[in-house]
Amino acid sequence: MLYSSEVQLLTTKTHWQQLSHPVLARYQVQLWICSVDTAIPQVSGNKCLKLKYALADVFQQQKAGVFTFGGAFSNHLSAVAASCKLLGLQSVAYVRSDSLDLNNPTLAFCAAQGMQLKTLDRSRYRQRHDAHFIRQLQQQHPQLLSLPEGGTSAEGARGVAELELAMTPEGAADLLVCASASGGTLAGIINRHTTPVLGIAVVKDRTLPEKIKQLLLPQSSTRLWQLSTDYTGAGYARFDDGLLQFCRDMARHQLYVEPIYTGKALAGLFSMITSGQIAAGSRVSFLHTGGLQGLQGLHYRGLITATDLALLSGSTAG
Ligand SMILES: Cc1ncc(COP(=O)(O)O)c(C=O)c1O
Repeated sequence: MLYSSEVQLLTTKTHWQQLSHPVLARYQVQLWICSVDTAIPQVSGNKCLKLKYALADVFQQQKAGVFTFGGAFSNHLSAVAASCKLLGLQSVAYVRSDSLDLNNPTLAFCAAQGMQLKTLDRSRYRQRHDAHFIRQLQQQHPQLLSLPEGGTSAEGARGVAELELAMTPEGAADLLVCASASGGTLAGIINRHTTPVLGIAVVKDRTLPEKIKQLLLPQSSTRLWQLSTDYTGAGYARFDDGLLQFCRDMARHQLYVEPIYTGKALAGLFSMITSGQIAAGSRVSFLHTGGLQGLQGLHYRGLITATDLALLSGSTAG
């Protein structure tokens, strides 16, 4: 069928990288990083997995595209914009902002992909999960399907569950790890695997465990999983010099992460390793969920230097 072969364009190669680092050697932990690469960097990581079935639904229901929600520097918005462009679909974004700054690299990218950008102030943005509010927006976009913020839905978790994260090139992992924000990625990993799963929360959200549980399938009720909330720092998208230093250190070990999602979660995992919470001899598989486009926004806001932008995104050797 046309829609499924086109949406396949979003699904691509899984790449494994064993991280070589003195801390891992000292604590005898084998750490494998699993990346999901697509031809379009903005769609790589968890994005292609989370969007796959939602976009297939657009074709199945013969709709013209999607409308969705996100912050002004959102990885999700850039992924939706790029995949809709690729698939010839319309995309509309409701951006959490009072005004649209088209010099912002994320919004500039989205606009260049043909995404229509609209603003919602903070109080209206809070209604983004409200069924009545979505119905009102749906009336304005009868030809578009509504896609939740972050692409987190049963379809999103279903796409993530297609990823085999437990089988590293050196054998079965003892623990599967990922960053968790809206919970769809973690839920998908739990739904797929019987291996224990650890989510590292990168947002302060007391409702996150409940959001994850709502996406679990019946067979997951006995699965071993845990959500660590110890490494959120000052909250979503906040990071300190120590975390930036950690991301630089990773880049010097050929692993490129940003400090909002993957870097924050990985720094949490390293803390768990050095505090003895991960047993020596463990083989750990960590899902690199992407998000490197966000580095440009951090640089745009003066939160990282041009040198850090180049180093963390892998465009210079550090
Ligand atoms: C780069 C990156 N990593 C991890 C996550 C967290 O995924 P989830 O919202 O499914 O928990 C996100 C958010 O979608 C993200 O953009």
